[in-house]
Amino acid sequence: MTRAARLCIVTDIHHGKPSFSKAGPAALGLMAEFRRFVDETRPDLVLDLGDRISDEARDIDLVLEQEVAEAFAPIAAPRFHLDGNHDRDYLDVTDNDAILGRKAGHETVDVGDWRLVVWRADAKLHRPSGFALQDPDLAWLAATVAAADRPLAIVSHVPVSGHSQVGNFWFQNNSRFSTYPTADHVRAVLRTATVPVVWISGHVHWNTLTMVDGIAHITLQSLTETFTTAGEPAGAFALLELSDEVLWRVHGRDPFTWSARTEALARRWLAPLPDFREVVGSKMHAAAE
Ligand SMILES: [Fe+2]
Repeated sequence: MTRAARLCIVTDIHHGKPSFSKAGPAALGLMAEFRRFVDETRPDLVLDLGDRISDEARDIDLVLEQEVAEAFAPIAAPRFHLDGNHDRDYLDVTDNDAILGRKAGHETVDVGDWRLVVWRADAKLHRPSGFALQDPDLAWLAATVAAADRPLAIVSHVPVSGHSQVGNFWFQNNSRFSTYPTADHVRAVLRTATVPVVWISGHVHWNTLTMVDGIAHITLQSLTETFTTAGEPAGAFALLELSDEVLWRVHGRDPFTWSARTEALARRWLAPLPDFREVVGSKMHAAAE
């Protein structure tokens, strides 16, 4: 019998002006729905995966962030806030720390029989190069994975699965901004994990599941995104239940449900083949000679 954990998760709130398909003015009303969901669910903790605002200018962004912080304030459960790129366009991590009453850095917290890994890797979006994976962020993750003695639920703003952006309103034609250019270094670290791993991110504004090396990489739809929901804000937030089974359930207009046996998430896959032309004995190899 394992001790179960329940987490309520919201991401990409994007409070502020409307921006293309982001319904920013709906954010605070939808946060009331999220608070009701948290009240009913009584989770062990609450996670915000970042992009609390749609940035405009430093003075405006400070006000917007404060309004989102006030929307979270009535929640009694422990809260963990990650910063997204829009929280960092005109603001520093320390600005967000002050508003949220937080001291942001990487951290772990054991919940039930699992370990939550809050990976606050640098989420500043540099233009035109994109996100920059920092060596200390990768080193901290590698040490945390190496030391793991129980299943890991890892969370970040930016996804690292390398999943396709075909069909994504924002990223089909801007996929270089959808992840870290060196996300393969993160996946190489994850491949060394000997425990079950599930990884949950925001940023890309859609619900996805991508299995890589037996690890489940999930992205959660934004609270206020409309591109998948016929112009209405998705109102998306999720419940993650962690026990012998992992259950992921996204509520709102863009529902998504997935589950798996925890033990299956500990199996690393065979390393993929190289180019067939390099595989001795393959038909492609023969054809190439
Ligand atoms: Fe976002």
